[in-house]
This record gives sequence, C-alpha cells and structure tokens, in this order.
Amino acid sequence: MNYSAKAGDPSKQRTPCLVLGIFSKRKLSDAAKTVDIASKGFLTSILKKGDMDGESGQALMLYDLPGTLCERVLLIGCGTQKEYNRAKHKEAVSKATSELTSGHTIEAIFCLPTLESTETDLYTQLRDAVIKSTEQSYRFDQCKSDPKAPKRPLKKLTLLVTDGKNLKTAQKAITHGQAMASGISLAKDLGNLPGNICTPSYLADQARKLGRKSPKLKVEILEEKQMEALKMGSLLSVSRGSRQPAKLIIMEYCGGPAKSKPVVLVGKGLTFDAGGISIKPHPGMDEMKYDMCGGASVIGTLSACVDLELPINVVGIVPASENLPDGDANKPGDIVTSMSGQTIEILNTDAEGRLILCDALTYSERFNPAIVIDVATLTGACVVALGSHAIGLLSNDDTLADEILQAGISGDDKAWRLPLWDEYQKQLDSNFADMANIGGKGGGTITAACFLSRFTKKQKWAHLDIAGSAWNSGAKKGSTGRPVSLLIQLLLKRSKQIN
Ligand code: BES
Ligand code: MN
Ligand code: ZN
Repeated sequence: MNYSAKAGDPSKQRTPCLVLGIFSKRKLSDAAKTVDIASKGFLTSILKKGDMDGESGQALMLYDLPGTLCERVLLIGCGTQKEYNRAKHKEAVSKATSELTSGHTIEAIFCLPTLESTETDLYTQLRDAVIKSTEQSYRFDQCKSDPKAPKRPLKKLTLLVTDGKNLKTAQKAITHGQAMASGISLAKDLGNLPGNICTPSYLADQARKLGRKSPKLKVEILEEKQMEALKMGSLLSVSRGSRQPAKLIIMEYCGGPAKSKPVVLVGKGLTFDAGGISIKPHPGMDEMKYDMCGGASVIGTLSACVDLELPINVVGIVPASENLPDGDANKPGDIVTSMSGQTIEILNTDAEGRLILCDALTYSERFNPAIVIDVATLTGACVVALGSHAIGLLSNDDTLADEILQAGISGDDKAWRLPLWDEYQKQLDSNFADMANIGGKGGGTITAACFLSRFTKKQKWAHLDIAGSAWNSGAKKGSTGRPVSLLIQLLLKRSKQIN
C-alpha cells in the first residue's frame, strides 16, 4: 500500500473516495461537518433518513455529493464521541479498509476523527491507521494454487490532517507505521508458513536475504559443526532428533556509533514442535508450526531497523531447530551440558524452547549488550495465565521491565509482568544435574523464565512469553506478528526517534 500525508480542507479533496467519521447518534465529526456545510446539509439529510446512526461497525457509501470534488464519500460509524478512543479509531480504520477493498475503491483519503488525550496523540493514531489498514489488507495465500485476491484492492491511502502544522508529525507517523507494518507482515508470513517449508534453513535464508538489503546489516549463520565447537550441547540436543540441521542465525544491525552497546534480541525459532519423545497430544498440533514466532518477530524487527535506518545497534539472534521424536532424539532423563557449562536434566523433551534459548543467551554475551530481550512461545501455562491479550514479561531488571511495559502500551502490544522470585528457583532442582528443564506443578511460565535467568545473570535481561499472543486459533487461525510493535516501539524510543 502506498501511504502519504496531506493537509487541507476535507470538502476540497479531489479523490475517488473521502472517508469520514460519524459518531452516534447521528453526530458529525469535525471533518464531516465541513463536508456537510460544503454540500449544503447533504450528510445531515442522509443521516435524518435513518440509513446510519454512527454506531461502530456501520458504514455507508455515498456517491456524487453536491459541492465536493470527490467521487464518493464513505461514512464510518465511530460510536459515541465520549467513548471514542484509540481502540475505536483502529476499529474505524479496519472497517474503512475492508469496505474500500470490497467496494473496489483503489484510492482514498482518510479523514477519520483523531483525538488528543493522555492515552494517545496524533502521531500514534496516524501510525495506528497505517499499521491497521495494512493489517486489514494482509493475506496469506502463498500456499493456495488459485489465490482469490481482491480484484481491485485498496492501493493508495492519503491521511488528511486539517492543520498544516501537523504535516511533519503525519509524515513521521507514516514512515514509522510503514516500517512497523512491513515488519509485522514479514513476521506473520514466516509464522504462517508450514513446518515443511519454513525449516531452520528457510529461516536462515530469509535472514540472509534481509542482510542483502542493507550494508548496515551483517548476517551470519552458524552451522551445527560451529555450534559443537562452541559447546552448545543443550541447543544441539534438541535438533539431534530432527533431519533438518539446526541453524544459529545472527543478524547484526550497526546503525549507531561503533562503541555503543547493542540491544540484543533473541527469538525462539522452533520451526515445528511435536514435543519430541514427550510427544504432544494430536489435537491442534499443527499450531506448533508457530513455535518459531519469537524468531520471526526478531527477524521482522531487524527488517524494520533496516527500513528506518535507526541510529542504534541491534543484534538479532535466532536459534532455529525442530523438535521431533526419533531414535536419536533427547530422552526423558538425558543430561546435557550447555555452553555455559551448566548441566541440564531433560525431564520433559517438550520443554525444548528453554534448551535452545539458553545457549543462544550465553552466546549473546559476546556482544556486550546494553540489554537482552528474548521472545518465545515458551509455555502453555502463559496461555492459561494471560490468555491471548497480554504478553508475559519476566525480568531481572525493574527499569528494563518498566521500559518494556511502556513500549507495550505505546505500541498497543501490551505485556504484563509476572514475578521472577528466588522462591520459584527451587522447583528446578535436579537430583542428577545442575538443574532440571521443567519446574513441576504450578507457575510454569515463571519456572521457565527462572531456567533462562540462570543463563543471563550477567545481563540486564527480560523474557517475553508470547505463547498466547503470537497467533490466533480457530476460524481466524493465523500469526499476529506480535511483539514486533512492542520491540520497534522500544527501539524508536531508545534511538530518540520519538519522545
Ligand atoms: N512451544 C511449547 C509451548 C506452547 C504450548 C506454546 C502451547 C503455545 C501453545 C513449548 O515448547 C512447550 O511444549 N512447553 C511445555 C513445557 C512443559 C513441558 C513444562 C508446555 O507448556 O506444555
Ligand atoms: Mn515443546
Ligand atoms: Zn516449543
């Protein structure tokens, strides 16, 4: 989609379609008022007829409005003005995008109501509009033999601001929004691809491809031999049960001063998790193709860094492997030695995410990170605790945790912090090794983070459990691209691109 910003009077726009908001009950937004006056009360008279009263979810296409230069006007219901907020604005954007697409309108000017409040500002709402309209147009049909794409999809969207002094803000919102939206789309595509296509090697190729886009992005792939030399016994134990070789993807984006410490992002890239010998039950197992969504979000975020040319150093690390049952796979009771030297008793081969992440986290030390954030579809317990709306956050650093919580709010990609108290560490005690890979009954998300914390003692570190938020199940099954927004928001803020 092509996005641009423009300042001007809504009633004077020459466009195939002007999109305006109507509040309930039959209350014109400011832009709609301007158009109403120019059309000598046409909108008021239409609303009086009762075709639309402005409830959210409503839409009405009008043609040949007198006194205007536009071919059509699309009215979008926004709910009551009092309750209009960031979420309602996003809903209105979604509705408008889907109406335009199904109505074969390829070009439009958005003039939906925005608001200044403590919750949101103009920049955020215009950025939301870009992200949400891209999201609404997202389709995953790479694997269909005859994809039924919309005949005339929306192609060009102009965001209209009424005051010329807001044009700069709008342009920035568009630039940031487009980079975020394409990072999200990339993460979604990688997530939605099936396990037989999106293998560790495929992920590595995608990272290499990204590396070719910018001289600022250096991509290196470590093969199993090299991981052996680094003594990554934990990571390699997981891939032993798979015919696909594991890959350790390392993406170094150098946008900042050479000496400034990088933000290191580590993403779980488990391209299919059958559980291994501790095999998972059959129903819904297909969804374990999404077990690489953490890695996909890291790749999507690095892609946005490249697009935005962010003046900051960021390293993305994606340990990629499958977890399958096999004669050579990990067995319950096996003991492996991690790169850190710590030994691990594998009591459940399905707790494999932490086994690949721990070696990647140890590896991250060599980058001398400012902070380390890992992202992983790590525990079913997180789905139970937080459902699909909040990302689970656990951290050994309160300042970093607050920074992430705030980025989640600003990026509308919210996280919720869970405790990482020492009391929970005991649950990982093993009779035979330094630790077990599972923490027994209760607090599964916390004990998984406790496990990781043993490999990040030297770092300011946070862990994001996206098991509930990375994809939707059911009829709308599909990757969400989370937490790309949160991560980019954090990087935009850290690199002082926004306040
Ligand atoms: N990838 C799964 C976690 C998962 C499960 C994410 C369901 C989303 C939905 C992870 O590798 C796993 O299997 N975790 C186990 C850990 C347990 C054995 C301690 C789990 O959550 O059941
Ligand atoms: Mn598992
Ligand atoms: Zn897993």
